Amino acid sequence: MKSWTLNDIPWHSFTKSLVNKDLIPIVKAASMVESNADDYAAYLQNVFHDDPEFKQAARDWAVEEVQHGLALGRWAELADPDFNYRESFKRFVDGYKVPVHATSSIRGSRAGELIARCIVETGTSSYYRALMDASQEPVLKEVCRLIAADEFRHYKLFYVHLQRYLEKEKVGKIRRLFVALGRIRESEGDDELPYAYYAANGAEDERYNHLKYSAEYGVRAYPLYQPYHIEKATGMVMKAVGLSPQGKISHFMNTGLQKFITYRAQKLRQRIANHTSG
Ligand SMILES: [Fe+2]
Ligand SMILES: [Fe+2]
Repeated sequence: MKSWTLNDIPWHSFTKSLVNKDLIPIVKAASMVESNADDYAAYLQNVFHDDPEFKQAARDWAVEEVQHGLALGRWAELADPDFNYRESFKRFVDGYKVPVHATSSIRGSRAGELIARCIVETGTSSYYRALMDASQEPVLKEVCRLIAADEFRHYKLFYVHLQRYLEKEKVGKIRRLFVALGRIRESEGDDELPYAYYAANGAEDERYNHLKYSAEYGVRAYPLYQPYHIEKATGMVMKAVGLSPQGKISHFMNTGLQKFITYRAQKLRQRIANHTSG
């Protein structure tokens, strides 16, 4: 059951003068990725084929994710009347495919799959919290508040199922930590967000270029994170892995992530500057 609908959003309060133009392209990109959740749900149906309880939860989850895409897409159309959410989404799905046909988890176990899902929801809940805090525009603020709350609930949903599978599969904490770190690294290197950024923002005659669009996306997204967003995200990752959010590994990871984000933002600014001047 969805906890809110598009009708709950006060669209009439949209205030163009308060829109931060740097946020529009990343909101468009996020709307593409969210709307693709049905493909992930299909993959999860395959991986958990004999677990009807989880399969139903995954179907309900996908409905909420798709709604996130619709809300963000609608906001982006208000902020940029030239943006056509449906057309851009078609461009995205025509070019980017989620591998949905696997019959076992690409994480090595179902517990591993659920850890990866917890990491994704950690990423999205902290991202929308950061976007909410960075936005002055009241409708985007509200959309992000609603979505961030959903993402946190999704984290809890996958966490509960993870506990169930950990009892059966006995995946050690170190192995869990590696799955989590692997999923974080994957988000850095894969094409999903860069391609979504391209599909939603790239000129019609432009071709996809991973380095260019990952930089365009990252240079706008990384600076949104404040230390408290990263600290909360680290705590959620630690909990999923089974380690203390107050422990040494957590402290080490929090410091490392803060430094990494500052470093990446700087590097990507340089990459864009070199690209523009070259
Ligand atoms: Fe979402
Ligand atoms: Fe989610």
